[in-house]
Amino acid sequence: MSQIFDAAEVRKHNDESSCWVILYGSVYDVTDFLPNHPGGRKIILRLAGQNATEEYDPVHPPGTLEEYLKPEAKLGTIDPDTLPKEEAPKEEKHLDNGPPPLDSLLNLDEIEQLGSKQISRKAWAYYYSGGDDLVSKRLNNEAYRSILLRPRIFIDCEQCNTETTIIGCKVGLPIYVSPAAMARLAHPTGEAGIAKACSRFGALQMISNNASMAPEQITSDAQPGQIFAWQLYAQIDRKKSEDMLARINKIPSIKFVVLTLDAPVPGKREEDERSKNVASGLPIISAVQSRSASKPTEGGGGGIGKSLFAGTSPNLTWKNTLPWLAQHTKLPLVLKGIQTHEDAYLASLHTPQVKGIILSNHGGRALDTAPPAIHTLLEIHKYCPSVFQNLDVLVDGGIKRGTDVVKALCLGAKGVGIGRAPLWGLAAGGVEGVERTFEILSEELKTAMRLLGASRVADLNMQHINARALERQIYDGPAGFEKVGMWVSSKL
Ligand code: LAC
Repeated sequence: MSQIFDAAEVRKHNDESSCWVILYGSVYDVTDFLPNHPGGRKIILRLAGQNATEEYDPVHPPGTLEEYLKPEAKLGTIDPDTLPKEEAPKEEKHLDNGPPPLDSLLNLDEIEQLGSKQISRKAWAYYYSGGDDLVSKRLNNEAYRSILLRPRIFIDCEQCNTETTIIGCKVGLPIYVSPAAMARLAHPTGEAGIAKACSRFGALQMISNNASMAPEQITSDAQPGQIFAWQLYAQIDRKKSEDMLARINKIPSIKFVVLTLDAPVPGKREEDERSKNVASGLPIISAVQSRSASKPTEGGGGGIGKSLFAGTSPNLTWKNTLPWLAQHTKLPLVLKGIQTHEDAYLASLHTPQVKGIILSNHGGRALDTAPPAIHTLLEIHKYCPSVFQNLDVLVDGGIKRGTDVVKALCLGAKGVGIGRAPLWGLAAGGVEGVERTFEILSEELKTAMRLLGASRVADLNMQHINARALERQIYDGPAGFEKVGMWVSSKL
C-alpha cells in the first residue's frame, strides 16, 4: 500500500537537505535530483514542499518523471483534503465579457491580441520575446512590406490551387508550422491540437525538440497523407539525441529531420527574463535534455528560453555533425537557420543527405540585427542561385499576411513557416483558434494569388514582385566562395 501524506508533512521538506514536491497527486523526494536538473536547482527549490503540478505540467512531456527520477523517489500519495483549498490566484487575464467569436477575428494581429490576453504572463513573455531590442523580429515583418507586387491581368484565375510539395511531400498549403516549443503553455491541447488543425488544411507541422508533448502523442491521430517533420537540437549528451532519433525513425508520418543551427546558445530575451514568475518558478526538463547539461545562470534572470537551452550543444560543425546524424537516421535532413548565402551554398554541397534549408533568424529570438529570411533569399539569388536547383529553400519569420507568403514564393521559397502564429491561435481558441489562423492565411494567400494572376503556386515568379527597395539593403561584399573554388560577382 502506498503511503498517504499530509500536506503539512510535505511542506517541512522544503530545502536542499530534503526537497519534496507534489506532482499529479503523488509525493516525490527530488533531493538527489536537484544537482542534475537541467534547468538548475533553484527553480525546483522555489516549489519545494508544495504542489508543483500546475507549473510542471505544461512544460514536461509524459515520461519525463520516469526518465529522470529513480522509482524510489516516489514516496506515496497526498491526502487531497489536506491541500490548501485556495491555490495561489491564477495570473490569467480573462476577458470581462468572454472572448469574441473566432470568426470575428480578421487577421493574424487580431488573433495575437486575443491570444495574448488569454494566457499567463509567463507564457506570453516566452512566446513574444526576441533578442535584445527586437530589431530582427520587427524587420522580419517589415521587410515583406517593402516588397511591392506586380499583378498581371487577363488571366483566368477562377480556380486557385495552393497545393505544392515540400521536401518531396505533398501538402495542401505552402504554409507550414515552424518548430516552436511548449505549446501547452498556450492551451492544454498543445502540439496535438496544432496537428489537428493542420490536418484540415493538409499543412506540414514541424515538431519542436522542446515540444510539451511526446512526438508519438502529437502524431497519433495523423490523417491519411498528413505529414510532420521533427526538429532536432543536438544535445550535449549525444546519446539523448540518438535515442530520440531512434524513436522518430519509427514514426511513419515524420518525413524529415530539421536540424536547428541558428541558436547554438539562446539570444538575450529580456521579456522572457523579466517574467520573474518564470525564472523563479518553472522547472523545465525537455524530454531529451541531458543530465550532464551545463546549467543556466542560477542568479538573476533566466526565463523559459534559458532553461530550455540548458542541454543544447553549441559545438556542432559541418565536418562532425552531418556524419554523426547519418549514422542515426536515414530520413532526409533540412538545415534550419541559414542566414548567409555562403552557408546556403555550403549546405548545397551536402546533398543528398541535406535536402533542404530553412532561411531563418529564429523568429528574431537569437542574434538581434541578424538578417530576415527574405534578405538571405535575395542574397542567394545574387550570389549562388544554383542553390535553388539543388535544395528546397524554406523561409520563416515575420509572416502575417497572404501577400507575405506570395512574396517569399515568388522569390523561390518552396514553403513558408509560421511559428508564433499557431501558438497565438492556440491561445486564442484551442484547435479552432489554430484553424482560424490557417483559414485567414490560406484565404489571404488565394486572394493574393488570384489578384496577381496566378492560379497555381508554380505560377508565382520573380516577375510578380518589385524588390528594388530591399535589394539596396542586401549584403554586397565579396561572394566568399574562394575557399570552395567558386566566385560569383554581384548581379544586382
Ligand atoms: C526557443 C527555442 C526553444 O526559441 O527554440 O525558445
